[in-house]
Amino acid sequence: QIVHLADYRPTDFVLERVDLTFELDPQNTKVEARLIFHRREGVDASAPLVLDGDELMLSGLLLDQIDIPAAQYDATPDRLTIRDLPAETPFEICVTNYINPEANTQLMGLYRTNGVYCTQCEAEGFRRITYFPDRPDVLAPYTITIVAAKEGNTFLLSNGNFLGGGNYDEGRHFAAWFDPHPKPSYLFALVAGDLGLIEDTFTTMSGRDVALKIYVEHGKEPRAAYAMDALKRSMKWDEERFGREYDLDIFMIVAVSDFNMGAMENKGLNVFNDKYVLADPETATDADYANIERIIAHEYFHNWTGNRITCRDWFQLCLKEGLTVYRDQEFSSDMRSRAVKRIADVRHLKSEQFPEDGGPLAHPPRPDKYREINNFYTTTVYEKGAEITGMIATILGEDDFRKGMDLYFERHDGDAATVEDFVKCFEEASGRDLSQFFRWYIQAGTPLVSASTSYDAASSTFTLSLEQTVPATPGQSSKQALYIPLSTALILDNGQIAAPSKVEGGEYKNGVLHLTERSQTFSFSGISSRPVLSLNRGFSAPINLHLEQSAEDMVQIARHDTDMFSRWQALTTLAMPNLVKATNAVRNDAPVAFDAGFITTLIEVIGDDALEPAFRAQVLALPSESDIAREIGSSNDPDAIHQARNAAMAAIAKAGVETLTALFDAFEDKGAYSPDATSAGRRSLRNIAMSYLSFAEETPKRAADAFAAASNMTDLAHALSILTQRFPDSAEAAQALATFEARFADNALVLDKWLSIQAAIPGEGALGRIKSLTGSKHFVGTNPNRVRSLIGTFAFGNPTGFNRADGEAYRFLAEQIVSIDKRNPQLAARILTSMRSWRSLEPVRADHARAALTTIERSPALSTDVRDIVERVLKA
Ligand code: ARG
Ligand code: ZN
Repeated sequence: QIVHLADYRPTDFVLERVDLTFELDPQNTKVEARLIFHRREGVDASAPLVLDGDELMLSGLLLDQIDIPAAQYDATPDRLTIRDLPAETPFEICVTNYINPEANTQLMGLYRTNGVYCTQCEAEGFRRITYFPDRPDVLAPYTITIVAAKEGNTFLLSNGNFLGGGNYDEGRHFAAWFDPHPKPSYLFALVAGDLGLIEDTFTTMSGRDVALKIYVEHGKEPRAAYAMDALKRSMKWDEERFGREYDLDIFMIVAVSDFNMGAMENKGLNVFNDKYVLADPETATDADYANIERIIAHEYFHNWTGNRITCRDWFQLCLKEGLTVYRDQEFSSDMRSRAVKRIADVRHLKSEQFPEDGGPLAHPPRPDKYREINNFYTTTVYEKGAEITGMIATILGEDDFRKGMDLYFERHDGDAATVEDFVKCFEEASGRDLSQFFRWYIQAGTPLVSASTSYDAASSTFTLSLEQTVPATPGQSSKQALYIPLSTALILDNGQIAAPSKVEGGEYKNGVLHLTERSQTFSFSGISSRPVLSLNRGFSAPINLHLEQSAEDMVQIARHDTDMFSRWQALTTLAMPNLVKATNAVRNDAPVAFDAGFITTLIEVIGDDALEPAFRAQVLALPSESDIAREIGSSNDPDAIHQARNAAMAAIAKAGVETLTALFDAFEDKGAYSPDATSAGRRSLRNIAMSYLSFAEETPKRAADAFAAASNMTDLAHALSILTQRFPDSAEAAQALATFEARFADNALVLDKWLSIQAAIPGEGALGRIKSLTGSKHFVGTNPNRVRSLIGTFAFGNPTGFNRADGEAYRFLAEQIVSIDKRNPQLAARILTSMRSWRSLEPVRADHARAALTTIERSPALSTDVRDIVERVLKA
């Protein structure tokens, strides 16, 4: 039941070619798979061929076109074993079976969504279509024939290049596709249905024309224009930045409305959650546009990092995901503001990955065992994986990093590779030994680096002592020292960065300290006055940092550092002790007070017109409630945190009311909406200023006016959030919710916002509201986007409502999980991870949480997905 990395071995049989024919029918689709194999050299002639299945029923089995006698094979729903196969020569196995796409509520394999046939095969969905060696190291070219009723299936799509098509029989037509690039089964895709289409072309750097097609529901074509634009920019960027050219005549994207994840990089035929394709100013927010750009790029970039070079086994998932996230982050940084993108990414890393790494679900970016691979599509594999790639770039420098990437593409094109293969390319390209660095991949937990400093004026020497520890995580009690690249600057009085005459104690090059020992002391000579230390600039390493630094020094960084990320970080570091202290005060019924210096600096920074609006908005965003909970660490009271954070916002609003009002007035959107980063930044600053003003004014008036005046979804949704979160019982909030619902009654993606905005309303009333919304006609329990918007937002994004002290919401979640699990285990397991930090709650809530989790654990017929999560979350 548990799969171990150490057990990896290649298959006994080599798959040469795949030829699939589908006769599509909503309830009874016929699948015929012709597979050509040969026995791998050295494999015993008695070894049987073992193919994976999942809920399959065999209906026909041929060997070289002749029926195989029953005694020669065993077929169960999840395995087909065939014995006595040729020892030397290649042979053809032909498997026939029937599947029911309409009954497939797991959304893995072939399923139906809104009348469209669609597939999701990663990681192990292909085995729900036919018996197959369903693992990523089995690569072959595929020929696909799709037969379907003409009615309702205008388009019959699969991977690769279009071969041809036409009439098949009475009422049916067919299409054939050939994908010449050998690929694993998880990259297979099929889509058939009646869809609208937008088309464009892209000319690659070597002058080939690629047809670009995006398929969406009829009538939604105009809303795919931004996705198309993002696709063309992605294709160009990958050529310019990494020298990667597209390799087929056609690239297709299909948007579907039922999808478990964001999107999927199937070769030449990406399938997307429609939420990450469709946008127009009236229905999509700036964040939606940014996500579309990012995810379109991500899936496109997989064509090289994932498809041309794939993973040997699923333990290597971060080989493609970490690297591809790194690439999409770089892309977005080039398209937008690099500093603001970095701040947003670090915020996300700290609020999602750090809690994962510090809780019961912690695992290394490259795990060495799993029970259910679907549960390893995690923020650790994706985002920490991206950070590790970024650290390689930091350690090597831009040129050697690019050389290493080039070598990786050249050496491993067509391979199913490992993380070791990847790292070796950088070692060879740079001449550096990365064996210690490799531990980042195999050790879980967020390292803690403690720093202390001293300055000796007599010898003009600055000393920095660093000590690293990696906390114990499930299954890993002791850790080895990591290789941690720390971007570091010593800032002088005049704001200049010091250039030390000599650095001793370890490597310091291009502003990067290479921390390799458990404790290491660096001394910087030739520093003529006491400098201010700016450490881990740009968040060069994903660590927690303990540095005793005076508020004055932090203010100096916040005001003057040349690295915008560091300025933001200094302000966050200044904010945190204030928020923690306020939380304690709330809990002890003591007066809440904030450090005046912190508030003054913050207001000064946000009023500085020389700074990008988007940056200033990030500064105003403050650490989130879950950031504060993580900082406090144990025995958390989410109500107290919420009150303390609101008190901080009120104090800032009161002190900064003039600045905030001026920002609100100055950044009013005039003229036509544009989704570009600068315009989005202006809107975000104005909107967050409005949030603060709601604390200073204590009336819904401003937000209600903004709601009425809004000319785009960003402003409209933000005004609705303020009205409902800050003034939930006001007539204005009720009125705005009703107006919004009526106006977008036929747009499910916009109604997701209506659901999630309500799901996020804090406090006692939340659970009742959620329960009644589950009965709303807009809530469709089978659709993952609806479920995530309502139940997911409540569990992940409403700390006070979800963590109510009586435990009612945990019990509600437990019921929901058990019921969702019956249809869609992946979705249920994902939402259940919202309970991962239950142990850091105060004892009353923690007891309720444990009890609710135990109810799930004891419930009969759990999926492997949910069982795996609930058992790990409960395990001490
Ligand atoms: N490879 C996809 C992506 O990151 C994610 C697919 C995840 N699918 C799953 N069933 N877990 O772009
Ligand atoms: Zn991916």
